[in-house]
Amino acid sequence: MTLFDSEARAILRENDRGGYTIPTDGLYPYQWNWDSAFAAWGYSTFDLPRAWQELETLMAAQWKDGMVPHIIFHQSDPGYFPGPDVWATGQTPPTSGISQPPVAAIIARLIWEVDKEAGHEHLKHLFPRLVRWHRWWHECRCTAGPATITHPWESGRDNCPDWDSGMAGVDGSGVGEYERRDTGHVDASMRPGKEDYDRYIAMVQFGVKTGWDQARIVAEGPFLMADPGITFILLRAHQDLAVIGRALGEDVSEIEGWSLALRNALPLIWNPDLQAYDAKNLRTGEFAGVLGSGAFLAYLAEAGNPELDKQLMRVWDAVTYGIPSADPEAEIFDPRRYWRGPAWPVINALIAIGLRDAGRFDLEWRLRSETASLIKQHGFYEYFDPRDATPCGGSNFTWTAAIWLTWAGDDREAAEAAA
Ligand code: SER
Repeated sequence: MTLFDSEARAILRENDRGGYTIPTDGLYPYQWNWDSAFAAWGYSTFDLPRAWQELETLMAAQWKDGMVPHIIFHQSDPGYFPGPDVWATGQTPPTSGISQPPVAAIIARLIWEVDKEAGHEHLKHLFPRLVRWHRWWHECRCTAGPATITHPWESGRDNCPDWDSGMAGVDGSGVGEYERRDTGHVDASMRPGKEDYDRYIAMVQFGVKTGWDQARIVAEGPFLMADPGITFILLRAHQDLAVIGRALGEDVSEIEGWSLALRNALPLIWNPDLQAYDAKNLRTGEFAGVLGSGAFLAYLAEAGNPELDKQLMRVWDAVTYGIPSADPEAEIFDPRRYWRGPAWPVINALIAIGLRDAGRFDLEWRLRSETASLIKQHGFYEYFDPRDATPCGGSNFTWTAAIWLTWAGDDREAAEAAA
């Protein structure tokens, strides 16, 4: 075990709040949905029971309608805005009113593969809950074909340029006074802008006004966009959930049906002008017209193609470290501002799973080496400037530590020799 391994484990332990893990102290003091799943993957390298517990705590917050919320407010913390009082969902424990990328089934399968016997009982418990969540995605978010989001935060890639067109249609002028907390923890130049925040809050206020009626939010809410990122994650997650179901002897035909429907919808998010998958504003019918990292998650769902390969290599070769979250050759590229340019170890890892499955070991190796290099130079930061490795966002970050333990830290000696 190297020093980096021990440090990564220590970060998970320090961010462990007893049954659930916060992404990082200060900036994100609650349980976040996909962060928590990645934490579970990280624990699976040294503490399997704790890995399963993380997923079980996450799924215990599932709503009656099947949704698994994006934040679970286990205890109150004035250091975060918007907190439980702003979301006002009426849940116990309090939660937000939107979901987040459904990586849990993908990760449940990975953890189960570490020790299938030990995982069997846990999977029996989790499977019906995951099925209900995936059914919620199918019925409440995939009615137009691809997976849609009702708030940029639902995508997990909050301020990426994919959402600019939808954000332009949201009126943030009437949200009233509020105090942001994120910029007290992290440099404001690395976070979304004030106009973005006004609109984020306006969308939350709309949800509250409907009593978090998901059908009304989809039909009448200020924002509805098809998200390539969630579409590919959900597609992969359906496939992994079907594998889990078969191993448990369950009937998986319903899951296979969702999977087929989603794959058949992929042409709807292919933008021929961009020669790539693209987000689509379902309020106007327009494509976003920008290349974001969500498009490259296609590899995770075996949906890559030669045109997308060209775009991938173009944006990747334009930077030094990992896959940038926005096109470095586009005007909107902002290399240190959250999802508008930085490289994110966690997205690199998801793309790499797809590259490895497709036997594209040279690309997977390159991505792993570059991601490892970011972490080795500056530590376990939330994201990095892909040109010069400047560390950005929160430090001692749970999912970056988890990605080190499960993927980026593999074969370090060989990575050093190759560098
Ligand atoms: N990532 C969002 C935030 O910055 C919410 O999920 O608070």
